[in-house]
Amino acid sequence: MIEESMAMIDSNAQQQAAAVPLLSIAGLRKSYGAVEVLRDVSFDLCKGKTVVVIGPSGSGKSTLLRCINLLEPIDEGTIVFDRQKISGTDAHGHHVRIDIGMVFQNFELFPHLTAIENIMLAPVEVRKVPKAQARDTALALLEKVHIPDKADAFPDELSGGQQQRVAIARALAMNPKLMLYDEPTSALDPEMIKEVLDVILELSNEGMTSVVVTHEMSFARRAADEIVFMDGGRVIERASSERFFGGEVHPRAQKFIQTILH
Ligand SMILES: Nc1ncnc2c1ncn2[C@@H]1O[C@H](COP(=O)(O)OP(=O)(O)O)[C@@H](O)[C@H]1O
Ligand SMILES: [Mg+2]
Repeated sequence: MIEESMAMIDSNAQQQAAAVPLLSIAGLRKSYGAVEVLRDVSFDLCKGKTVVVIGPSGSGKSTLLRCINLLEPIDEGTIVFDRQKISGTDAHGHHVRIDIGMVFQNFELFPHLTAIENIMLAPVEVRKVPKAQARDTALALLEKVHIPDKADAFPDELSGGQQQRVAIARALAMNPKLMLYDEPTSALDPEMIKEVLDVILELSNEGMTSVVVTHEMSFARRAADEIVFMDGGRVIERASSERFFGGEVHPRAQKFIQTILH
């Protein structure tokens, strides 16, 4: 009996911990000159969840990720990450930026470094991890992204799909609490898309909190706990994957899905 109630308290505590958003964006506005590219964007993301952001080109998806990652200052609103206000008025917490991993469309590996050197660089330089330990972690991560034999390859000796998986391993090497992916397969040949999406899906299933910008709808359907549809700098729709693909969504989102599926 006591054990049962202890277990219940435990599970309540876990649920409460899970219910506190790891990332909370409220009233985010961002302009470039006179052009407002993010207009009152708000959403929360709980620990362990994956949100897939979709929307037409120019709708502000990359800008949103860049704001979350503090690559861009914001004009209004707040971004709270891991209980700290990291962007907005009176924000402190730039230091938490190293807890956010980012994967770009064009991989952005350092061309003069091998795969393993790319992965080891930030842990050694930023987190001051001893080299031998960073190397062990990097090898384990190369295994995790299914290219254990590519440690000593330079980026130009790797396919696009392999380079992107090195880029994912590089982000993971910092032991991030949140991963951001900006159209991670848009620059890839079709046969390489799946190998990269499979890795992202595996990470997501293991509980990595993730924001993924992608047009890959079958991936979105499988990976997303929530879909955010953006258009013209606004969040037009937030819906569970079931509801979104079940068709109960804003007509503008429907129309967008139709255009990319056909
Ligand atoms: N650095 C910049 N300077 C000026 N305008 C920009 C800049 N970056 C993006 N924009 C504009 O902001 C809008 C949103 O861009 P972006 O976030 O890249 O959209 P998406 O990723 O959804 O295609 C676009 O109109 C784009 O031209
Ligand atoms: Mg973009």
